Amino acid sequence: MTMLVTTKTIPQVQSIPKPGGSLLAPPHTTLLTALQLFEAEAAAPRSALDLGCGSGADTLELLNRHWHVVAVDSAPEALATVLTQAPVRCMARLTTKLTAFEDLQASQLPPFDLVNASFSLPYCAAAHFGQLWTEVRQMIRRNGRFCGHFLGLSDDANKASGMSLHSLPDVFALFAGFEVEMLNGVETDKAQSDGSVKHSHVISVVARKK
Ligand SMILES: C[S@@+](CC[C@H](N)C(=O)[O-])C[C@H]1O[C@@H](n2cnc3c(N)ncnc32)[C@H](O)[C@@H]1O
Repeated sequence: MTMLVTTKTIPQVQSIPKPGGSLLAPPHTTLLTALQLFEAEAAAPRSALDLGCGSGADTLELLNRHWHVVAVDSAPEALATVLTQAPVRCMARLTTKLTAFEDLQASQLPPFDLVNASFSLPYCAAAHFGQLWTEVRQMIRRNGRFCGHFLGLSDDANKASGMSLHSLPDVFALFAGFEVEMLNGVETDKAQSDGSVKHSHVISVVARKK
């Protein structure tokens, strides 16, 4: 099942080719869409928080577009990869922060134009998600954006305890006070190498804080 809500015409966007041929996966469409929306506003490159940056595909895209980036992850090896992959010429615009979502505090960071969270927020302990989301909302400047993913209730991850999953109405409620510019819910079944089938339910969002 797929459902898509867009309130704007958003042109197709391409990532910027990485000099030297990065081994990283391409940046996520949610990020490219948000960047396209900023660029359509003729906004100069600004500051972004990449929450749960992993090995940094999205962080690298932001850096290549001249943004300042704070890349956060609870895994030291993820941040080490980001630092290895980031071009030297971008280092002055990159800060890495080893922190768990559960310990993140808006008061310890400057406000951002963009908070990007690609496939990472579901890993926040469900009991802590409300507090994390309060902090995330505070971290986004007025007219700034959130882009990223949530896992829907039909995702197989729902069978594991403790992850943060959301229904579609839950997701809309999270964005009270935002203009939802793109919301895309997709359910798919994927065959796994062990022969089992994994059902994924991903809700992708780009939204602007009013
Ligand atoms: C599925 S990966 C996504 C990585 C990257 N954003 C991407 O899309 O390629 C999830 C990331 O979230 C990080 N993560 C998981 N739980 C976390 C937590 N409680 N606090 C901070 N980071 C966490 C993991 O270390 C991992 O890098």
